[in-house]
Parts: sequence; C-alpha cells; structure tokens
Amino acid sequence: MEVVLEGVSHTYNGKEYALEEIDLSIDGPGMYLVVGPNGSGKTTLLKIVSLNLRPSRGRVTVDGVDAWNTSKKEFAELKSRFVYSHDKPILLRGTFRYNLTMGGRLSGRVDEDFMKRLVELFRVEKLLERKSWELSAGQAKICSLIRALSVKAEVYALDEPFNSLDSSNVSRLLSVLRELSNTKAVLVSTHFLYEGLLNSAKKTIRLINGKIA
Ligand SMILES: Nc1ncnc2c1ncn2[C@@H]1O[C@H](COP(=O)(O)OP(=O)(O)O)[C@@H](O)[C@H]1O
Ligand SMILES: [Mg+2]
Repeated sequence: MEVVLEGVSHTYNGKEYALEEIDLSIDGPGMYLVVGPNGSGKTTLLKIVSLNLRPSRGRVTVDGVDAWNTSKKEFAELKSRFVYSHDKPILLRGTFRYNLTMGGRLSGRVDEDFMKRLVELFRVEKLLERKSWELSAGQAKICSLIRALSVKAEVYALDEPFNSLDSSNVSRLLSVLRELSNTKAVLVSTHFLYEGLLNSAKKTIRLINGKIA
C-alpha cells in the first residue's frame, strides 16, 4: 500500500500554517519516523496521512486514489486500512479490558492473539479489570497502544507512542514496532530520539516549522 502526499499544506486558523508544501510517500512496510520539536507539525502530519484530517491544500492519494475526492463508501474503505493512535490516550469509561476492544466496537478487526501477546509483553494482566480512570498516565498509554496495535490495518500512525513510558516499556515497544514494521507501515512521531530509534527507521522525516527540513 502506498500513501502519497503532494503539496500538502494545513492551516487551522486561516493565518498560520501548521504544515506547508509537504511531499511525502509512505511506500509499503517499514518504520517511518517523524521527528521535530514541539509545534513543528508532527501530529498534524500523522492525522493527515491517516485520513483523520483533510488538509487545507494538496492531495493525499492511497494506491493512486485521491482520498478526499472519492465516494463516501470508498473513503470509508480506505480509512479502515489505517490506525491512528493519539498522543494523549483516549480511553472510554470502563476497564482496561473493555478499552482494549472498545466494548466490542472493534470486534472482527482485532488480532486477538497479538493482543494477548502484547498484554503479556507489557505485563499488564493484573490491570485488566482496573477502571480506566484509575490508571497511571503510563498505564493508560500502554492500554491505548495495545488497542491500536492489535487492530488489523496496513498503516499504523502512532503519535508520540513513547510518551509517559518507563525505559523498560520504551524498549519493549521499540521491539514490537520493529517487528510490526516488517509487514506494515508504521509511522512514529517523536520529539525525543530514543536510543536505537533512528537506525530502525526506513525513512526519517524531519519537520521544522511545518516544513520538511
Ligand atoms: N486544533 C488546532 N487549532 C489551532 N492550531 C493548532 C491545532 N492543532 C495544532 N495547532 C498548531 O499547529 C502547529 C503544529 O501543531 P502540531 O501538529 O500539534 O505539532 P507537534 O505535534 O509537532 O507538536 C502548532 O503551531 C500548533 O499550535
Ligand atoms: Mg504532537
């Protein structure tokens, strides 16, 4: 699967540009790192690539289809091939376990075996019955990551996935992302370059003030 951005710009307020004239291709499996300081446009870029935000200008094509100029039905089909995971974990009122499957809303799209493996890897078995509002920031982040990673998709756009994680969980996540990127496109945004991250990347996209540096 190939996602191509051509001349993509985005403004939230009609004045300043969060992204300006971005040309980029996500070309099959691999890890794509999006790095840059706070406010450089990383989140905006991930939302646009994963079809969660329509850019003010420019084109986003998925396997040659102009995503924002196609039928509603085709757009929905295209979008179902992407997963976007928010920087801030967004959890529903319910347990850790409930959030992993969003109370069944994700059923059919979840790789149950992979989810089980991740629950074991991150050692969160004991948290499964805990309510989402009783989780620490790091625990909530793990919950939202396991949920995102176990949804079957082709492109995983993970916004600041390492935020709030301790060093053991950072290295566990890094190994999972390396494995996943053998078969899927994994976009990872980060404002901090963790050890081993740069040499795991197929492509590194450096953003400064909304432009590719
Ligand atoms: N919803 C929004 N409304 C207005 N401005 C926004 C919004 N989201 C982001 N911005 C602005 O767009 C720019 C890029 O933000 P963002 O993509 O979140 O950067 P990053 O993820 O690299 O920190 C920043 O200047 C930010 O203030
Ligand atoms: Mg961000």
